[in-house]
Amino acid sequence: MIGITVVSTKGGVGKTTLSANLGALLADLGVRVLLIDADVQPSLTRYYPISQRAEFGLSEIIKRGAITPDCISHIDLKVPDDSFALNPDGCLDIVLANAPEGTLQDWLAQRIDRAIRIRKAVRSPYIDEAYDVVLIDTQGAVGHLQDAAVLAADVLLSPISPDILSAREFTSGTLELLKRLEPSADMGISVPPMKALIYRMERTRDSRDIAQSIRREYVNLRARVDVLDATVPHAVAYKQAATAQLPVHWLDPTKAGATMHQLVWELIPSLAGSVAACCEGLIDVTQFANDLDDADGRDRHE
Ligand SMILES: Nc1ncnc2c1ncn2[C@@H]1O[C@H](COP(=O)(O)OP(=O)(O)O)[C@@H](O)[C@H]1O
Ligand SMILES: [Mg+2]
Repeated sequence: MIGITVVSTKGGVGKTTLSANLGALLADLGVRVLLIDADVQPSLTRYYPISQRAEFGLSEIIKRGAITPDCISHIDLKVPDDSFALNPDGCLDIVLANAPEGTLQDWLAQRIDRAIRIRKAVRSPYIDEAYDVVLIDTQGAVGHLQDAAVLAADVLLSPISPDILSAREFTSGTLELLKRLEPSADMGISVPPMKALIYRMERTRDSRDIAQSIRREYVNLRARVDVLDATVPHAVAYKQAATAQLPVHWLDPTKAGATMHQLVWELIPSLAGSVAACCEGLIDVTQFANDLDDADGRDRHE
């Protein structure tokens, strides 16, 4: 089982959209995925239709320190037409957020083991047996819940918009969070490596220049942060997919599908080369990379 936590101390950067689309593509590649909505403002909880709503959710997994079947809800993705079906080997389940704002942070504040509370729940033999990937979405803030979600992961994924304010926020917020957690190594839990993802890239010179400087700057932070080659553009398909409650690779298999595949292949190299049924014959990841290069100097907005 691989634990991936999507984290950024900034709100509105695309964490939930990324978690939802990554989860659905993985499931469509035959991976058994458990999403955990660790944001008390429950956006991932509302993202896709739920077919079987469990009695319990995030509060209970944290308070019990275990994920049991009564905390796991099932997502019901509706295939838009009969030309393809969801991969029968995969699954997409979710632990729904069910705690009023602040209550879990207060509860965790009283616990000496707060930083490993989610880790303990996620790394149980039951979850290890039932799922291949656990994908945790977090709130864009700093707190005990975010700390616990970070330390539950094997790898962290952090979207950064290529604009100067987001790039600064990444350094002062997200990287500070990692630094603050580093002493956890003394308890035998290392802060997981972070993969930064340039996200909502616009086809402007400014966006491109900042993306390049993010790449240059984070080469210096190599031990802590890697910038992924995959880049997610600012594209209307992501919003349309959210509105339709569908994975973006179903709605826009050629472009968004290619991007999401490139991301999955880079993030989980054992999946490199596998393609979801609806994208077969449609995606050309190299072409997509060239396409972004072509944007040099042209100001084009969608
Ligand atoms: N690649 C994208 N292109 C354009 N808009 C996007 C993209 N990804 C997300 N969005 C939009 O940005 C907004 C914030 O995204 P969200 O995933 O909720 O961020 P967060 O979870 O970090 O707060 C949403 O309205 C979402 O539809
Ligand atoms: Mg969110």
